[in-house]
Amino acid sequence: MVQSTGSSKIRTAVFISGTGSNLKSLIKFSKTSKSPISIEFIFSNNSKAKGLNYAKIYKIKKRVLNFKNKNFSENKLLSILKKKNIEIICLAGFMKILSNNFIKKFKGKILNIHPSLLPKYKGLNTYKRALNNKDQYSGCTVHFVNSKLDSGKIVLQKKVKITKNETETSLAKKILAQEHKIYPKAILKIFNL
Ligand code: GRF
Repeated sequence: MVQSTGSSKIRTAVFISGTGSNLKSLIKFSKTSKSPISIEFIFSNNSKAKGLNYAKIYKIKKRVLNFKNKNFSENKLLSILKKKNIEIICLAGFMKILSNNFIKKFKGKILNIHPSLLPKYKGLNTYKRALNNKDQYSGCTVHFVNSKLDSGKIVLQKKVKITKNETETSLAKKILAQEHKIYPKAILKIFNL
């Protein structure tokens, strides 16, 4: 598991690409006394990501690199993370796949949240696939990131029931509400709190 060093909070970066509702829930959690993390940096590959507004609202440093040249962006990002002494990374709706080289540099220190009950439905369109398969349940998973997409060790999952007349939109909304709860819980869990 991840080791907490000393009494100060774990310096954490959150990577986003869009709305940033998980980012918001992580920021709120980080400000509670029970939180082992403090969010020191927000990164986005998308300059239009709505979630970037939380950097301003909560006075957190942010940076955008478009990942068009992935190697360049990742190297730049790695040097920023180093300068800021970032210890763990939470991916929260980050839509780029990090290279093995990047992941190795933060081995066992990158978490992701995914809107399905992994190992079911890795990748995109998870709601649609669950509905098409007439699954009774879907849910969300917090997992460690390794070199294979959505395949790292699972930290925590939450099931939600798929009801009659469920749509992609209604299912996404239900799952997202649970995501906001389990990401903080998963962080407590990896620090044995
Ligand atoms: C969430 O459903 C998350 O599971 C997926 O992308 C979505 C991000 O939502 N990886 P938000 O940007 O945190 O609102």
